[in-house]
Amino acid sequence: MSRYAKILGTGSYLPGDPVSNDELASRLAKSGIETSDEWIVSRTGIRQRHFAEPGAKTSELGVEAARRALESAGVAAAEIDLVVVATSTPDWIFPSTACLIQKALEAPGGAAFDVQAVCSGFVYALASADALIRAGTATRALVIGAEIFSGILDWNDRTTCVLFGDGAGAVVLGPSDEPGIMASRLHADGRHESILRTAGRVAGGEVTGHPYLTMDGPAVFKLAVGVLDAVGRETVEAAGITLDQVDWLIPHQANARILQATARKLGIPGERVVTTLDRHANTSAASVPLALDAAVRDGRIVSGHKVLLEGVGGGFTWGASLVRM
Ligand code: UT7
Repeated sequence: MSRYAKILGTGSYLPGDPVSNDELASRLAKSGIETSDEWIVSRTGIRQRHFAEPGAKTSELGVEAARRALESAGVAAAEIDLVVVATSTPDWIFPSTACLIQKALEAPGGAAFDVQAVCSGFVYALASADALIRAGTATRALVIGAEIFSGILDWNDRTTCVLFGDGAGAVVLGPSDEPGIMASRLHADGRHESILRTAGRVAGGEVTGHPYLTMDGPAVFKLAVGVLDAVGRETVEAAGITLDQVDWLIPHQANARILQATARKLGIPGERVVTTLDRHANTSAASVPLALDAAVRDGRIVSGHKVLLEGVGGGFTWGASLVRM
């Protein structure tokens, strides 16, 4: 009998109180940066975001999301033998944020590693954990997307600093006789690395390069819509179903216009698209598991539903997973 992986539980965590567009605009105005609720809502669909306290670490957000996912799965931390963390804002250069989360959960002994695929990170991490469970290398996995993007934002660049937020989402995967993760497809095209990046590093005891996020928004926008359509179709076909059999679409939450265009191209009606962008903004690798957990907890996504998860972001990377809950 084949061995598959299935999502046993979901969890998420958002730090602090939401910061509205008006509140952010008045903070930015103090340093002479002009923006408005009207511009942010009309161009992006974002209404608020959460920011971690200065000094907070990505692992702390990830641990909270992981605890909630473990609780909903009815799995003890000690049963976890694989932790995969998707993040572009790790606590440190090393050890991995996955090792730090494993330590905090007191779940030593299994494998733990980070995945760096920016906003596609959660889908990359899910596909990796799925493959390790199917291969028999792992049995119960925590797959986490966690980010503190506020730490890499340039607060003098209004074209990026209004778009992102902090947060974490997690799922617990376990073995199953039937496919829970029905199919995953991952892609990258490094030729586009310069349109979205944080091109800094630590070397010789100093930060060198540019330690803040930079983005060519319109270029990312154009690429994103095309690849989300293509990889969605590819993944659904690989799972052996058709697009009309997909119960929910959860694309990476970057821009409401990207979400709408993707759904329209795939022929999935707007009421079957989970949107948390308005409340969370773009939380990079955390956005897909945050949205998944929100829709599970409010009762929209139930056992048996087929959910198409899609990521897209820096690299340029993109990917999708079709999961049966
Ligand atoms: O997570 C990774 C994936 N990231 C994405 O998917 C992001 C994709 N891109 C986008 O979401 C959009 O391209 C943006 C939201 C980033 C920008 O929207 P746009 O419609 O492409 O706007 P634009 O960059 O062409 O800028 C339009 C105008 C410019 O003014 P001018 O040159 O027309 O006078 C900007 O200076 O809007 C101005 N602008 C702002 N105005 C007020 C840019 N940012 C702001 C701002 N507040 N925060």
